[in-house]
Amino acid sequence: MATAAAAPLLLRPLFHGLLLLVILSLALGAHGNKPGEHYNLTRENFPPGFVFGTASSAYQVEGNTLKYGRGPCIWDTFLKYPGATPDNATAEVSVDEYNRYMDDVDNMVRVGFDAYRFSISWSRIFPNITPYVVLYHYDLPQVLQDQYNGWLSPRIVPDFTAFADFCFKTYGDRVKFWFTINEPKMVANHGYGDAFFAPGRCTGCHFGGNSATEPYIAGHHLLLAHAAAHQAGKIGILLDFVWYEPLTKSIEDEYAAHRARMFTLGWFLHPITYGHYPETMEKIVMGRLPNFTFEQSAMVKGSADYIAINHYTTYYASNFVNETDTSYRNDWHVKISYERDGVPIGKRANSDWLYIVPWGLYKALIWTKEKFNNPVMLIGESGIDQPGNETLPGALYDKFRIDYFEKYLHELQCAIRDGANVFGYFVWSLLDNFEWRLGYTARFGIVHVDRNTFVRYPKDSARWFRKVIKNED
Ligand SMILES: *[C@@H]1O[C@H](CO)[C@@H](O)[C@H](O)[C@H]1NC(C)=O
Ligand SMILES: *[C@@H]1O[C@H](CO)[C@@H](O)[C@H](O)[C@H]1NC(C)=O
Ligand SMILES: *[C@@H]1O[C@H](CO)[C@@H](O)[C@H](O)[C@H]1NC(C)=O
Ligand SMILES: *[C@@H]1O[C@H](CO)[C@@H](O)[C@H](O)[C@H]1NC(C)=O
Ligand SMILES: *[C@@H]1O[C@H](CO)[C@@H](O)[C@H](O)[C@H]1NC(C)=O
Repeated sequence: MATAAAAPLLLRPLFHGLLLLVILSLALGAHGNKPGEHYNLTRENFPPGFVFGTASSAYQVEGNTLKYGRGPCIWDTFLKYPGATPDNATAEVSVDEYNRYMDDVDNMVRVGFDAYRFSISWSRIFPNITPYVVLYHYDLPQVLQDQYNGWLSPRIVPDFTAFADFCFKTYGDRVKFWFTINEPKMVANHGYGDAFFAPGRCTGCHFGGNSATEPYIAGHHLLLAHAAAHQAGKIGILLDFVWYEPLTKSIEDEYAAHRARMFTLGWFLHPITYGHYPETMEKIVMGRLPNFTFEQSAMVKGSADYIAINHYTTYYASNFVNETDTSYRNDWHVKISYERDGVPIGKRANSDWLYIVPWGLYKALIWTKEKFNNPVMLIGESGIDQPGNETLPGALYDKFRIDYFEKYLHELQCAIRDGANVFGYFVWSLLDNFEWRLGYTARFGIVHVDRNTFVRYPKDSARWFRKVIKNED
């Protein structure tokens, strides 16, 4: 299998020479980029020991959801609901990494990646690549949802801690880099605020719920579970962070953008840094926001050795009070827009939420550094998708993806130069995989997976990363 997967990379047509003409742009103080400019993106231009990796999650790549003694998780249940994905996809087979992981490690090594970020399937319990392991990436065992409503109950905290302890004991000799939870904001808001993710709860929803209170309760238990799972190795948390840029120069929009950042990144990173929720959240949410006891506050404060920022895109934010109903999202008092005076904030990718805005990464990192005591950071996810219906060989020609990584990595270099303490960058994703509610209609991989044979075909972007990381064509 390994040789079959490797062959396409070696046989691929010569990489477009133009893209290899990377030029030095670091030495000059100026930040920002000119169209068409190519940067000197080589390993030497990142700090010593900088980690290049790819990221995935168990549910999205393993497949075999009904095999090898795995129990059901909340996504298995959620996807049975009609219309859950546009292509009626499930993750039952996905890209079969459970059996084909050696092909994938082989491709990572060929490109030159240092690390692989994957998650452990809680309900399954359980080469030259350093594992960065995530304990929870959306796939709650269904039995805990049935027993006590999962993240809505404080009972989740000791159960998660027991699961974490088991993983630390069993894999701790090999795994030195851990993350507790991937994107707690997504878990809390999409699971309990707008029902976009499993378990699909919200006010007036088929599965029940209360969008005004449940996201905050789930968020609180996610923080407590994160803080309770501690061990000798290094442990962090993955936080999704869109950069919010004020739509206008008005003070109202400046505050609106600030609120949007605090209601997203700040919701989790503020307690982890300072032991309490951001003041702007306390003022708006008031009695609906759970309180930390003195002991909980002390436990949450300082509970991460590093913070992974999952960053893809940037939006404009303006002041707007939506009085329709009370929900986590309406609590922000923010309207989001994708253009200013008719000019789009950036080119759109295949996904309607993903605009290409490289400078947003720079601002997000510098703001995080300044607001949260210059934490040790890494980019836990970053990437861009193409439609799921492209065929071979066209699906492999992903110049748009190379452009994205070239510009985002350049902004990352600028942020590091200006003091952001970032030690790694994880590409989302190595493989085209099961993209939650998008099914297989969105492909983020730098490696294409044939959906009939599951053979892996590296795209141009994989070859580009090989040039960046290993300086080899
Ligand atoms: C890129 O940077 C390296 C290390 O700083 C330097 O040796 C090399 O000459 C640069 N290449 C170009 C094309 O500027
Ligand atoms: C998905 O399933 C529904 C119900 O079975 C069906 O009506 C619809 O056509 C299917 N959609 C696709 C894209 O297969
Ligand atoms: C948290 O404490 C504040 C002040 O003591 C109180 O007003 C608020 O109702 C409490 N919130 C909850 C959810 O218990
Ligand atoms: C206001 O809130 C309602 C209910 O949550 C939502 O459907 C609507 O899209 C929101 N309006 C705006 C402009 O954000
Ligand atoms: C592929 O999907 C995109 C949107 O996802 C659509 O615009 C396009 O027409 C589709 N192409 C084909 C050949 O079906």
